[in-house]
Amino acid sequence: MKPSPPAADDAAMPLILDINGESLAAQPGRSLFEHAELLGVEVPTSCRKQGKCKECMLEIAAGMEALSPPSAPEAHLRGNFRLACQTYPAAASGRVRCHTLRRGQMRIERQAYRPAFGAGAAPRCELDAAVTRDGGRVRLDGEVIAEAAGPLCGLAMDLGTTTVVVRLFDLETGDCLADAAFENPQRFGGAEVMSRIAYDCEHPGKLLMRTLAGYLSHAIEKFPVDPQTIYEMVVVGNSTMRDLFFRQDVYSIGQSPYRSRSEIELAAGRRASTALTQSGRRSLLPIHPRARVYGAPIVSGHVGADAAAAMLAVGLGREERRVAIMDIGTNTELIAGNRHRILAASCPAGPAFEGGAIACGMPALEGAIEAVALADEDGGSPRLRVIGDTRPAGICGSGLVSALGELLRTGRMNALGRLRGDASRLLLFHDAARGDADDIFLLERDINELAQAKGANVAGLHAVFSEYGIEFGQIDVFYLAGGFGRHLDLEAARRIGLVPEIEPAKFVQAGNLAIEGASIALLSRARRRELEALARRVEHCRLETHPRFFDFFVEGCQFKPVRPLPMEPASCQN
Ligand code: FES
Repeated sequence: MKPSPPAADDAAMPLILDINGESLAAQPGRSLFEHAELLGVEVPTSCRKQGKCKECMLEIAAGMEALSPPSAPEAHLRGNFRLACQTYPAAASGRVRCHTLRRGQMRIERQAYRPAFGAGAAPRCELDAAVTRDGGRVRLDGEVIAEAAGPLCGLAMDLGTTTVVVRLFDLETGDCLADAAFENPQRFGGAEVMSRIAYDCEHPGKLLMRTLAGYLSHAIEKFPVDPQTIYEMVVVGNSTMRDLFFRQDVYSIGQSPYRSRSEIELAAGRRASTALTQSGRRSLLPIHPRARVYGAPIVSGHVGADAAAAMLAVGLGREERRVAIMDIGTNTELIAGNRHRILAASCPAGPAFEGGAIACGMPALEGAIEAVALADEDGGSPRLRVIGDTRPAGICGSGLVSALGELLRTGRMNALGRLRGDASRLLLFHDAARGDADDIFLLERDINELAQAKGANVAGLHAVFSEYGIEFGQIDVFYLAGGFGRHLDLEAARRIGLVPEIEPAKFVQAGNLAIEGASIALLSRARRRELEALARRVEHCRLETHPRFFDFFVEGCQFKPVRPLPMEPASCQN
């Protein structure tokens, strides 16, 4: 239903729509989709504004009350998400701030720790793809799946709760031809895995998977090859994200003892691996219908295929040194070990360190504050480093760690996360010409969210290391994985206690190891077998039943260096 246009005498103070940082005065009778078109902002769609594809989602950051009520095609959306083609301005004045879920390019981690394969790189694996050419035939593991000329291509995908990264490879040369990264559009079903599980169980029609498939299809269609030449795809992600993609029933992952269907079937002897496969046709993607879509094996519980892929990427199964991997995210993965023994845990940290649940939080996109420097004394504006050297639009995870480190260093915040005096927020950016509407700040409430996310991560660290029977200082290499880990201010992270207090030289800010491992598994059948073997031998440290988890969590919520606690090992489960 389109609302009535605003009264003529309100025209002097029009409603302003701000979409992906571009502004214009609202025009009565036009949907937000049409306003985005006027601004030149691309909104994902496959149904031409008919309310059918559900792809044109907008996240409303402010001004929800100035919009028309949700329509029937929006009944599946939770929180502050709307469909652009169904939403109309419904107030005469005010300001609505919103963004699409593909706002600009996300920062893609191309500078991997060591590339999987490719020109000019020391290869991590022998090229031994499952897809081969035999004259005019294309074979997959020796079986003919197509009669076609043209290249042989494959995709590697890291399907994160918050971010999706896809790489396109030439399977005959091992070269990476293109890549893409975007926010996971499934966020309309909740910010973390438990809400997504609840959403998927409550809503019929596999809406989460279908929405992702729509976004992914657009990304694949923009790659510089015919999608029909894509004959294999390797998917990694946490257990929930992977299983949602393969349209598995995820109910059991959300209930104690938190096991995926594939894990239950493996334990019952009904399958040999937790890996999943499906055809290109069933995947709903525009790739070759007889392509194989391979979901790498999960480890156990919420320790997923992304953790297994990260282990493959650093060659953990061959390591003699003591190695730790920490991939900080909505679900933080922690791994410690070497070729003799490997332990892993998954920490339900929530989205705070990815900018979620934070008043001015945002992903690491152009416009995100990624570093903050505060003056030692009060007064003066903070010095900011902003991705893309542009006007700040929010603060991302690395900026949050930097800001917390500075608050602690300058004594403006204590170890409990309380701001000095009666301050309730740290103002980071103010533009006098635009009033308070564009202020960027960090609230004490945000700091509390970050403390709890940190508490979960630190509890995982203490649990894994105590189970392993070693202290933090005995680790030889500590990989910080993921885009967040790569751009982290290590000194600030050590100061606030997000990572253990070990020698800085032991840290390797390795980038996205999960996509690296997925790429290796795509390019090498031998390394894929190694991945399967690795996933089977990891001991799962279950935090939810760990006897000291609560103590570790409380300790970890404080902003202070993480040091070893008295040991008291308990047993891990496979
Ligand atoms: S454009 Fe398809 S639902 Fe809005």
